Amino acid sequence: MKAIVQSAYGAPDDVLALRDVPQPSIRDDEVLVRVRAASMHPDIWHTVNGVPYALRIMGGGLRGPKNPVLGTDVAGEVEAVGGAVSRFQVGDAVFGEIVSGNQWTNGGAYAEYAAARESRLAPKPSGVTFEQAASVPTSALIALRAVRGEGRVRSGQSVLVNGAGGGVGTMAVQIARAAGAYVTAVDSSGKADMLRSIGAEHVIDYAQEDFTRTGERYDVIVDLAGNHRGGGCGRSSRLTAPTCSWATSTSTAAPTIAGSAASAASSA
Ligand SMILES: NC(=O)c1ccc[n+]([C@@H]2O[C@H](COP(=O)([O-])OP(=O)(O)OC[C@H]3O[C@@H](n4cnc5c(N)ncnc54)[C@H](OP(=O)(O)O)[C@@H]3O)[C@@H](O)[C@H]2O)c1
Repeated sequence: MKAIVQSAYGAPDDVLALRDVPQPSIRDDEVLVRVRAASMHPDIWHTVNGVPYALRIMGGGLRGPKNPVLGTDVAGEVEAVGGAVSRFQVGDAVFGEIVSGNQWTNGGAYAEYAAARESRLAPKPSGVTFEQAASVPTSALIALRAVRGEGRVRSGQSVLVNGAGGGVGTMAVQIARAAGAYVTAVDSSGKADMLRSIGAEHVIDYAQEDFTRTGERYDVIVDLAGNHRGGGCGRSSRLTAPTCSWATSTSTAAPTIAGSAASAASSA
């Protein structure tokens, strides 16, 4: 089969190539997916470049990538199932993030076929294209952890998403809205209509207004842009995957946003 193969850590032009490789074999609990779409996100950049160096000892591979085939997020059709697989049959449309644990590893999604544990896949809704489905898993996982995990967003709360128009932000807006929160979205003006269409009640153009200086108070700030050092959710700017949600208390005063941080950021 054809696959995008990574020969070493380095610049994409130097280390990536389209090559013929053996089709992956599957274990009992795995599904062989005929890949129809795979997506790109910032962790792919990390695995190609091999930075931060910690990813190499975290399972990525010390001298070079342990798994040479790139990609973690995939959508496609089930080609074959292992003996213990019970949720999927040949022909089912599925999507998922096919690495487990450390996301700074190659999962093998950039290929004609990819092996994935059954537990890493979900049925693809019929109204969603393969391309749309493949773009969801890692971004939505980060958003889910930020909004429901760190942020513990509840119905009726006021949530601000900084960097709301991007891959993670659009998911965070929708998840917060689905939880019953009132969402303020911060991003560039061209995305305002889109952000309102996915559930933001209020939109701030970051080029026109600094949300840390409006005097508004929020219960939770999900900071994905990380551009407010010393204000807002500024510490997120130092994180590789800033799924930083700062849960704040409206009862305590602070210079820019209400309250003190009740939760710290975690990487994806
Ligand atoms: N997506 C993933 O799966 C993934 C995986 C690992 C880590 N991460 C990390 O998570 C963070 C967000 O990722 P992402 O994929 O959502 O990025 P993205 O798609 O590039 O979105 C970032 C958004 O922030 C907006 N923005 C830029 N400057 C801003 C400012 N000053 N104030 C408010 N918004 C601003 C951008 O708008 P413009 O178009 O105007 O620039 C864009 O809409 C990044 O730090 C990324 O490294 C993401």
